[in-house]
Amino acid sequence: MNEVPLLKVSNLSVNFYNSENIDVVSALSDISFSLAQKQCLGIIGESGSGKSVTLLSLLGLMNTAPGITSGTIEFSRDDTTINLLENLDNYPLHDIGSISSIVQRQFNRRKEQLNKNFQAIRGKQISIIFQNPKLAFNPYYSIGHQICEMIQLHTDINSEEKVKAKALSWLERVGMDDPEARFYNNPYGLSGGLCQRAMIAMALASEPSLLIADEPTTGLDTILQRNILNLLHDLQQELSLSMIIVSHDLKVIQTLCKDVLVYHSGMIIEKGTTKQVLASSENKHPYTRQLIQCELNSVCLAGDILIQNVDNGGCPYYYSCDEITSRISKTCAQSNPSLHNIDDDHAIRCWKYHDI
Ligand SMILES: Nc1ncnc2c1ncn2[C@@H]1O[C@H](COP(=O)(O)OP(=O)(O)OP(=O)(O)O)[C@@H](O)[C@H]1O
Ligand code: SF4
Ligand SMILES: [Mg+2]
Repeated sequence: MNEVPLLKVSNLSVNFYNSENIDVVSALSDISFSLAQKQCLGIIGESGSGKSVTLLSLLGLMNTAPGITSGTIEFSRDDTTINLLENLDNYPLHDIGSISSIVQRQFNRRKEQLNKNFQAIRGKQISIIFQNPKLAFNPYYSIGHQICEMIQLHTDINSEEKVKAKALSWLERVGMDDPEARFYNNPYGLSGGLCQRAMIAMALASEPSLLIADEPTTGLDTILQRNILNLLHDLQQELSLSMIIVSHDLKVIQTLCKDVLVYHSGMIIEKGTTKQVLASSENKHPYTRQLIQCELNSVCLAGDILIQNVDNGGCPYYYSCDEITSRISKTCAQSNPSLHNIDDDHAIRCWKYHDI
């Protein structure tokens, strides 16, 4: 019998207003994926493709109207499955074409409902570590104090002495040198690598079942990156954690993750096992192939891969694609393909793989 996934996201769509607040733009469109218990899922893709918006949605933290407009996020724990977007339909968004006080009021009601739905989950069952840990900590309190707060809030440990001992044990577990002394450091008294370790300790202090990491090693030097990745890998195995990790570094994803999603223009354009998607198989979305090529040649700078949306509803990769054939060129220009299963669990959003 198939195990119930820890997380199942179905048809999630998120919208924002454009900078003039007069038009709705899609940040995420019809995102569906699932994460098995104790597995690690990677998300890769161009800048602005919706990776962080996906992670924030998993924590109910989309704070800009109109925000989440459809979909379900099912989270399963202890034989119970809850839809974290439950009852949002009780507060429908009408006339979201442009921002107005009515839309803002409707959105605020939805936000209250989201906060209710996520109350018992956020920080406790699902924790997040960000790219810049210094911004995630409160600068005025020691890291030890902030880790103790997480333990008091989310675990049964209540004696002050035991809470501190637990916090110290987390600092030790994430490889802090001299945890006793570091306990009293403020975040700004720590180097980037140590601060990221402290952030990981704080994220794990609530003993979550899902850890989300948004580019956890960007900004660190290569050796620190490797150390933090090894640490995440060890912790994932040791604590039987499920993990979702966003990274621009394909090697990171290959090392840590069993499955991977490739994002482009707010859509999943390829998904499958890391082996299927990132290894040298022929079957790939042209954008994935380009990403891999860039990594191999180490010549791609951010922005090398041009992204252009096709206003007439064609494939969003149309203007950058060098794999269009005469069989599909008209369709590519006019119609956005759906994700097409080409193998067990391996799906690609490209007309090349459709029978047309
Ligand atoms: N609060 C917001 N209000 C309006 N637009 C937003 C907001 N947050 C994100 N966006 C837009 O949504 C899109 C997706 O953003 P997101 O931050 O998820 O990209 P990303 O894939 O994480 O990129 P990067 O790799 O650069 O971190 C972008 O076009 C971004 O400008
Ligand atoms: S659908 Fe067409 S344009 Fe889009 S990625 Fe595939 S071949 Fe390229
Ligand atoms: Mg991001």
